[in-house]
Amino acid sequence: MDKFIVTGGSRLSGTVSISGAKNASLALMPTCLLASGVFTLHNTPNNRDVHTFSLLLEQMGVQWKLEKNVLTLDSTNITSHEAPYEYVKQMRASIYVLGPLVARYGEAMVSLPGGCNFGPRPVDLHLKGLEKLGAEITIESGYIHAKCKRLQGTHFHFDVSSVGATVNILMAAVLAHGQTTLTNAAFEPEVIAIADMLVDMGAQISGIGTPTLEIQGVDALHAANQTTIPDRIEAGTFLIAAAMTKGNVTLENVQPSHLAAEIQKLEEAGCVVTATENSVTISMDDDPQPVDITAAPYPAYPTDTQAQWAAFMMKCKGAATIKDTIYPTRFGYVPELQRLGADIETGDGYAIVRGGSSLTGATVMSSDLRASASLVMAGMIAEGETEILRVYHLDRGYEGMEHKLTSLGANIRREQTEEF
Ligand code: UD1
Repeated sequence: MDKFIVTGGSRLSGTVSISGAKNASLALMPTCLLASGVFTLHNTPNNRDVHTFSLLLEQMGVQWKLEKNVLTLDSTNITSHEAPYEYVKQMRASIYVLGPLVARYGEAMVSLPGGCNFGPRPVDLHLKGLEKLGAEITIESGYIHAKCKRLQGTHFHFDVSSVGATVNILMAAVLAHGQTTLTNAAFEPEVIAIADMLVDMGAQISGIGTPTLEIQGVDALHAANQTTIPDRIEAGTFLIAAAMTKGNVTLENVQPSHLAAEIQKLEEAGCVVTATENSVTISMDDDPQPVDITAAPYPAYPTDTQAQWAAFMMKCKGAATIKDTIYPTRFGYVPELQRLGADIETGDGYAIVRGGSSLTGATVMSSDLRASASLVMAGMIAEGETEILRVYHLDRGYEGMEHKLTSLGANIRREQTEEF
């Protein structure tokens, strides 16, 4: 088990390259189950979730190789249609194999994901959507069994905007017989990325980038290659980290339009932000003004950087409210930030951060991926050393975060620990 030891007080400055988007990669990878052949995914981040997903595909018969951020997937010999619990419990996105398997092979067995560290995360929409397409779904011994002859085009309306359910149902609908209309579909950049990939594979999809997707099912697809979009969550994390250390940082390999909500909030807090086509530069000279955020589906402020915003607001002159409409209980990081001396109050779906407390290093525990990032960032502004346990959460979604932060001037080292 690894831990980070962060010594506070450094100011971030310099240039850093942002990796490919973890959440886009996890959506692109299962498309290889929709067609036989060799798929090449450029700009794939080398993080733990990508490895876990590769191993899941491997036990289905996919051969894979990840070298220099190029992931090759060979799906010529699929031998299993099952996603066992040992993978799904590590990573909920494993459920993405459900749609492609049932659409192409007429059957799939996928473990139910179970609980999550930041509250309930049901998969009812994934199942309802597949049932609407004609799959017969049963739950047995903790597994989802899905069966069908051939999926049939339909109209499915998502009760709530869900990235995962949209990705899954879209992957199923492309091989269904006839036309499918999906309404209130998610249109996060990661959803657009996978829709573009499916089109490159021969799928017929219109309305990409909008909440209404029209899919004309085809009989077969072919392998394709893709370059993964930049990780807007990693980019948002680094922008906030630069701001909270009163730094001056340029991010390269980013898509600034994907960061519009965060950039606006950073400017309101007092940061100076400039962008080119594929880079963003941020500088901050003073403590931030308090700025409230409400995490909601894209293009609103993302839930995946709300914990980082809370860490930033520990430095503000006043009080800022953080609301999360997607995961109203995603505030598990608050007691850990309080261990450093933060003044934060939580309520139903919100946290109020009162900035200005003096922060001192302590031992804290990561509870989920993005919570871990907020703890690392808090450690960078606390006095003395902060020990962050269970950084395997962080490794799920950030490629070499400590190396990138260290290259910008942070003082972070990774150590092995017996502690769990
Ligand atoms: C994805 C992201 C995750 C991000 C989240 C919200 C991946 C691998 N993960 O997760 O990082 O935090 O989007 O932007 O891309 N819901 C239901 N029923 C369902 C599915 C979802 O009620 O069947 C609800 C969820 O509880 C949540 C909301 O819909 O309140 C949105 O969740 P969703 O977009 O599905 O999140 P994920 O795809 O799991």
